[in-house]
Amino acid sequence: MAAMTSSARPLLNRRLAEFGTTIFAEMSALAMSTGAINLGQGFPDTDGPEEIREAAVRALRDGRGNQYPPGPGVPELRTAIAAHQQRRYGLTYDPDTEVLVTAGATEAIAATLLALLEPGDEVIAFEPYYDSYAACIAMAGGTRVPVTLRPHPEDGRFRLDLDELRDAVTDRTRLLLVNTPHNPTGTVLTREELTAIAELAVERDLLVVTDEVYEHLVFDDAEHLPLATFPGMRERTVSISSAGKTFSFTGWKVGWVTGAPGLVTAVRSAKQFLTYVASGPFQYAVAEALALPDTYFEAFRADMLAKRDLLAAGLTAAGFEVFRPAGTYFITTDIRPLGERDGFAFCRALPERAGVVAIPNAVFYDHREAGAPFVRFAFCKRTDVLEEAAKRLGTLRG
Ligand SMILES: Cc1ncc(COP(=O)(O)O)c(C=O)c1O
Repeated sequence: MAAMTSSARPLLNRRLAEFGTTIFAEMSALAMSTGAINLGQGFPDTDGPEEIREAAVRALRDGRGNQYPPGPGVPELRTAIAAHQQRRYGLTYDPDTEVLVTAGATEAIAATLLALLEPGDEVIAFEPYYDSYAACIAMAGGTRVPVTLRPHPEDGRFRLDLDELRDAVTDRTRLLLVNTPHNPTGTVLTREELTAIAELAVERDLLVVTDEVYEHLVFDDAEHLPLATFPGMRERTVSISSAGKTFSFTGWKVGWVTGAPGLVTAVRSAKQFLTYVASGPFQYAVAEALALPDTYFEAFRADMLAKRDLLAAGLTAAGFEVFRPAGTYFITTDIRPLGERDGFAFCRALPERAGVVAIPNAVFYDHREAGAPFVRFAFCKRTDVLEEAAKRLGTLRG
């Protein structure tokens, strides 16, 4: 029950009332109390490259970033972000006017939505969605309009229904909030899907915000294509990414925004009153990380690919239907082949039954029933941990 004052008014305002405590807190507490392997939350259990950790230590010792860094981010990092966008995608951004460093992608998302939305504006987002989207849209006074990704019967890929997307646009739609590679489904939007999104945005004059934190985690034939590279998109797209996932330092909270000067200035206006600045010494270390040779990014991807295959094989052997992800470090499964249908009940019981923690995808949906039988497992864990988890899950069918 919500906390009350003597006047019986709830303490938490009505914009946030529906969000309560996140499932991650509940499931991580369960993992602690039962000693279960936590494949719930998406953070690696090994740190990123030693030389980058050392770069942070050097920055701390040399007194770089120990006091408030510049509001937009340290110039070294802004330059490195611009160079990364150029080298990877051929996108040219001016480090002074078109790049903004944030406290992780989380702050970038919050500041972008707080900056760009008026109360009553509609935001189209693909459900299941990353949980901060709904809360940030609500804090900005916007209305979220979900378009549901559904697994295709042929290949199990969660797909976007382009007609549904077009039908979701109204005169009140302000922006499309896109996440590719997509958490939790692992879908990487194709060139055709992105082309259709771009054409729709241009036709209906919409802003687009793209969350690309898993940009370096794409597998098999999938390719990460930033929406900002599509015709007519550079001037209307705010692109968001972060060092946390790419370099396995999720605790450093270094993220960034790239976009046209007007958009970045707007986002900065909101950002300056959230954290103002963050992560001083880590910004210097991330500047070095972004300049790592391609071999780093290739080895990182190959390592995660092997982990994906290991956990996918374990889940399949345990009886789950596995939707093989083309990106991210999550696997979404369907529990119905195990004779289960309620992901919430299944995940609450799983630590006791099998000593593993997972997340019910329903929490990422407005249409909860659409996500009811889906459960997400993170594979960004050590090989021995994944092997043990697979062994434990193998006992489920009794
Ligand atoms: C899709 C997505 N966006 C943003 C974030 C948050 O990124 P950061 O840790 O950089 O704030 C996450 C983290 O799990 C994520 O999965």
